[in-house]
Amino acid sequence: MPLSDFTVKSRLRDYRVAFQEPGDYLPRLAAASESFFVVDENVWRLHKDGVLKPLCGLPVSVLPISEDLKSLESVRLLYDRIIEKTPKKNMRLVSIGGGITQDITGFAASTLYRGVNWTFIPTTLLAQADSCIGGKTSLNYKNYKNLVGTFYPPSEVCISSSFLPTLKEPDYLSGLGEMAKLAIIGGREPAEAFAGAAEKLLSRDQAALASFLREALEIKKGYIEEDEFDSGRRNILNFGHCFGHALESATDFAVPHGLAVVYGMLLANIVARRRGLLSPASEAFMRGRILLPVLGGRAWDARAGADAVVSNMRKDKKRTGNQLALVMALDDFKMLRVSDLEESEARTAIEELAGEGGGTAG
Ligand SMILES: NC(=O)c1ccc[n+]([C@@H]2O[C@H](COP(=O)([O-])OP(=O)(O)OC[C@H]3O[C@@H](n4cnc5c(N)ncnc54)[C@H](O)[C@@H]3O)[C@@H](O)[C@H]2O)c1
Ligand SMILES: [Zn+2]
Repeated sequence: MPLSDFTVKSRLRDYRVAFQEPGDYLPRLAAASESFFVVDENVWRLHKDGVLKPLCGLPVSVLPISEDLKSLESVRLLYDRIIEKTPKKNMRLVSIGGGITQDITGFAASTLYRGVNWTFIPTTLLAQADSCIGGKTSLNYKNYKNLVGTFYPPSEVCISSSFLPTLKEPDYLSGLGEMAKLAIIGGREPAEAFAGAAEKLLSRDQAALASFLREALEIKKGYIEEDEFDSGRRNILNFGHCFGHALESATDFAVPHGLAVVYGMLLANIVARRRGLLSPASEAFMRGRILLPVLGGRAWDARAGADAVVSNMRKDKKRTGNQLALVMALDDFKMLRVSDLEESEARTAIEELAGEGGGTAG
């Protein structure tokens, strides 16, 4: 059954999220002289002779992908290519790729001429199920992850299932990680449904995936429409990200974003249980039925040492004073954000998890 399109309300402009295949939208975009296409290099290599064929012969800017490329320098190079080809304020930037492509091109779209039309076609599960809505664009600066950025939603988002079969397993699991986060934040019903469908989701069952993808977006939409600029309730979407971002940096981005978030949720749950805010039974449910399945049962990534993770947490941009902010899941799937996480608590949680996972806590 086709998924139903929906609209996200934004103070900048409301935008439509459509579930369509490239044949439905690419001919229109390719025929428009104001379109400028930027495509993730792996997506271009894998799909140029398939669903992206309508773009062949057009000037397509191919973007190499690595976390290092989320930089002001990449945006500068993109400005150069755009003004060489389409130096018009009424241009449309069309970007096709995952979260990295989204962050670089979204930042460029939001700043060029103080904002140009932007169509985003997410091709990873993470971008389709999570990052494509919410309007955040982020660049890394020096060693600081996502330090520079803007709020700028795309003018339209087109989600196509035909890109997903070529995703490598870690990138697929990374997307499932963010979906698991949204299922927990969504409350008992989506969390239990995710747990019940975990096996199907892991085997890339199309129907299960489509229905959870739609559900994940619906849950996120509720938070971003209420607090678009992340000054209150939207902070809850950072569940797993306090530890997660630090783990990504500590492993030089060897751990994909969504999987780092899963480790981050396991750690936040340990802190919550040690504070007496989460019962061992609720922790065990999330861990055993939702989080560990996404990690293939492995509780810790031995590439990360506790010292490195904690020292990266100190650089967190949401930090206030000496203590850190942390979002925790409590019993009955209530969420709580605190800003008094002590470094020693963070370290203890990592040591507990690393001990169980057989990794080196460093
Ligand atoms: N702006 C936001 O709101 C937001 C939210 C969450 C995450 N992010 C950012 O997104 C990034 C992670 O995004 P991601 O997980 O989408 O990863 P990504 O963009 O790094 O893509 C992961 C890998 O998959 C490849 N790829 C993309 N589509 C493919 C396809 N269809 N088939 C085969 N390979 C494909 C890419 O070339 C890359 O090698 C992080 O930098 C994170 O900080 C941004
Ligand atoms: Zn994330």
